[in-house]
Amino acid sequence: MIGKVNHVAIVVPNLAAAAKRYSDVLGAAVSAPIDLPNHGVTTVFVELPNTKIELLHPLGDNSPIAAFLGKNPSGGMHHVCYEVEDIRLARDRLRASGARVLGSGEPTIGAHGKPVLFLHPKDFDGTLIELEQI
Ligand code: CO
Repeated sequence: MIGKVNHVAIVVPNLAAAAKRYSDVLGAAVSAPIDLPNHGVTTVFVELPNTKIELLHPLGDNSPIAAFLGKNPSGGMHHVCYEVEDIRLARDRLRASGARVLGSGEPTIGAHGKPVLFLHPKDFDGTLIELEQI
């Protein structure tokens, strides 16, 4: 059911320092920082040959990643995003197997303008999973 890894998201305490590490130390192509006020994050995209890494930093007062950074002050892996062809079909199959879909269960428009859903980390070995319909 799941397809390619679309991206791995990493919350970082210092976006400029993290972007510099990915470009200068790891030798990757990184974007300029992009504010996504609707999502409460500023993102730097790291473009790799086979996927993307998204470096995330809280933006605004109600950022959904502020609590994560509070618990993990040096940063950490936040979620992995898998592509699916039909997000509602995927949701229904996951629910039928007992997995918990976060929120209302209705897909929302994610950071890339495509429908996304998140799955409860306790149902997937402690990893927050994002599904994105491609
Ligand atoms: Co994501």
